[in-house]
Amino acid sequence: MPWRKPQPTLSDSDFQRFRLLILERTGLMFDHKRRAAVAQALTEGAHQVGDPSLERYFNLLSASPTDGPIWEPLISTLTVNESYFFRDAEQIEVLRRCLLPDVIARRQSQRRLRLWSAGCAGGEEPYTLAILLHQLIPDLERWDALILATDIDRQALQRAERAAYRDWSFRNTSAAIRQSYFNDNGDCLELHSHLRRLVKFAYLNLAEDAYPTPSDPLLSGLDLILCRNVTIYLPEPVIHAIAGRFYQSLASGGWLMVGASETNDQRYHPFQAVNLRGITVYQKAGKMAEIPGRTVRPVRPPLEEATKETGEAKREAPGRGDLPNTAPPSSPPMIPKVVPPNAAALYREGEDWLRQRRLADARRCFEACLSQEPGHSAACQQLARLEANAGRLAEARRWVEQALEREPLRVESHYLLALIKQEQGEIEPAAAQFRKVIYLEPGFILAHVHLGDLYQKLGQSAAAARHRAQAVGLGGRLPSDTLLPGSDDLTVGHVLALLRNTPGY
Ligand SMILES: C[S@@+](CC[C@H](N)C(=O)[O-])C[C@H]1O[C@@H](n2cnc3c(N)ncnc32)[C@H](O)[C@@H]1O
Repeated sequence: MPWRKPQPTLSDSDFQRFRLLILERTGLMFDHKRRAAVAQALTEGAHQVGDPSLERYFNLLSASPTDGPIWEPLISTLTVNESYFFRDAEQIEVLRRCLLPDVIARRQSQRRLRLWSAGCAGGEEPYTLAILLHQLIPDLERWDALILATDIDRQALQRAERAAYRDWSFRNTSAAIRQSYFNDNGDCLELHSHLRRLVKFAYLNLAEDAYPTPSDPLLSGLDLILCRNVTIYLPEPVIHAIAGRFYQSLASGGWLMVGASETNDQRYHPFQAVNLRGITVYQKAGKMAEIPGRTVRPVRPPLEEATKETGEAKREAPGRGDLPNTAPPSSPPMIPKVVPPNAAALYREGEDWLRQRRLADARRCFEACLSQEPGHSAACQQLARLEANAGRLAEARRWVEQALEREPLRVESHYLLALIKQEQGEIEPAAAQFRKVIYLEPGFILAHVHLGDLYQKLGQSAAAARHRAQAVGLGGRLPSDTLLPGSDDLTVGHVLALLRNTPGY
């Protein structure tokens, strides 16, 4: 139940044809839940090309290349560039302790490394790789090391080139790293130039481009590809095709790491899935390094390929026809010991389903989590959100109150309860609840926004203006594409634009 903003409208037929066009060109898939976001982006995009007619905007987009200036602002609005340094501590440890030491050992004699961050957003991920290389290779300046970083969003690439970051990008980074590798210029932190030089940024549309090409040595013989938190926005056939191209781009024995919620063995055939310290990564068959704790399982081919040797499904699978035919791995598959998942694992699985917007699966996991651990307040909170988003406010309220019973200082539960009360018309109690949120977390931007609205309703204009000004002040310190806690897809930029258009602000 997010903050309600005035939405531009989009007819059913416009939504269908625009989303098909966007899907064909970028691989980005938008379901009905994101219709309002698409409508907003199209309205802005049409405005930017100087003609508000959606009809003519559609024709213009259809006739323009995806990598050109007509598509650029639209892609920039539609993509989610959320990223931060050292994202996902467990995966970073696998990179630091297993994958990078492995590729460094293999390349010791040539002193040549080629890494690729595909879907690099604002650059935090490739620069994290640069810092890790600096920590792991004492004579790095004598190596020919290159980290290629690509994205479909040119505006994100421009930000990445600047290598200047605000606090929010360091939410998982120690003070020691900030001090050792960044200059503080007062407003933001700038990465040291010797590390910036390791990274080369380029536009690349993973869904569209025919890479690797023999003429592009940058995208072949690679040692490691990171493609994390990118494919959650792409449809399955596109992901499958991308996986095939990654396979071709890697040197034998090279590694692919995808986001923790994106691992799926069928998609990544013919890679070998390897478990390192509890994290699944994929390896192109080749000479295997000895990494302690490593377990290997072959990736099964997708069902249609396994069962239909020569059928249409195999021939039509995009991007797969030219894949090398790898022999099955010599080591037998590990037979996993079956143990019932614990509450924490069920909760994480529920979160993964949520990221993929598979709400029924998410609900099943959170309920199973609660049956294992009845007091799991985060699971209660998730069920409350699911109910609230489905409009079942009474159920949502019961769940959120249970969450608060277990964890009385849980800010997001207070926030959700405040939204529910507001929705149920309990204006004063809702305002009191939002005040609790702000008491617990003074920087909670959306609580200030809502409190501003409620005070306005109550006729208290001065208090309303004060909270809106606080929201603007807090938002002004964050990058505009920062996703706001308490919302699913609302960014700081959206809220600031809305507040500035609020009468009386
Ligand atoms: C959520 S960010 C992930 C950033 C980084 N990999 C991380 O995990 O922190 C996803 C990025 O994928 C990019 N992206 C989405 N579709 C793409 C495509 N078809 N080709 C290239 N990049 C794409 C988006 O522009 C966005 O910057």
